[in-house]
Amino acid sequence: MRTIKTVTRSVLPLMIVASITACSSGKPQAGLSPQQLTDSLHLVLETDRTVYTKLIVNRLQNEEKVIKASEHWKEDKALVLPAQMFRAGAEMAREKGATFSYSLLSTWPINKQNAPKTDAEKTGLDYIAANKGKNYYTEETLGGKKYFTAVYADIAVAPACVTCHNGHKDTPKKDFKIGDVMGGVVIRYPLGS
Ligand code: HEC
Repeated sequence: MRTIKTVTRSVLPLMIVASITACSSGKPQAGLSPQQLTDSLHLVLETDRTVYTKLIVNRLQNEEKVIKASEHWKEDKALVLPAQMFRAGAEMAREKGATFSYSLLSTWPINKQNAPKTDAEKTGLDYIAANKGKNYYTEETLGGKKYFTAVYADIAVAPACVTCHNGHKDTPKKDFKIGDVMGGVVIRYPLGS
């Protein structure tokens, strides 16, 4: 059982990469629907984000108190924030020519750049906050291009999420609790013309 689980986990990213490669023409060819594709991408993104927060930030900053996480990580010789880690990945994927794109947004952003902009983003963030455990899927046209857009809840999975946001000088919300929806991950996949 253990072996099967491990194999499935380690093979999943490869499967995704394979299907995305197959999709480079803009049309899914590996039999995955846009929703299956964004769901799979989200699974990997969310897992990596949780692992980084729990095993690195929460352990070293909040539990062991050996190193802090800071927005100015370079100057402060500190850990990169989970949100910065996420954005760095999104930017690198874009530079590598990914057909999809992803970002971390919130109705209560510390960084105003992370506020929702499109109607789909606004509706999606409201929906996932009001309907815990559910995702939001829609289609939108941006700059004349059609996209499948999925919004997934970003949950306070570790004490570090809550203490850092509630104590940040720029946060518009100071009462986040463990398990709360703090924002959302938006994934866009082009639907071709
Ligand atoms: C050490 C501080 C710190 C920790 C830990 C932290 N965050 Fe943040 N988070 C920030 C800062 C600062 C930003 C804005 C950074 C930026 O955009 O450059 C941010 C951005 C975000 C955003 C985008 C909206 C916004 O507020 O700008 C979400 C959603 C978010 N964090 C959720 C979480 C969750 C969930 C966790 C735990 C898994 C977490 N954060 C852990 C400080 C932190």
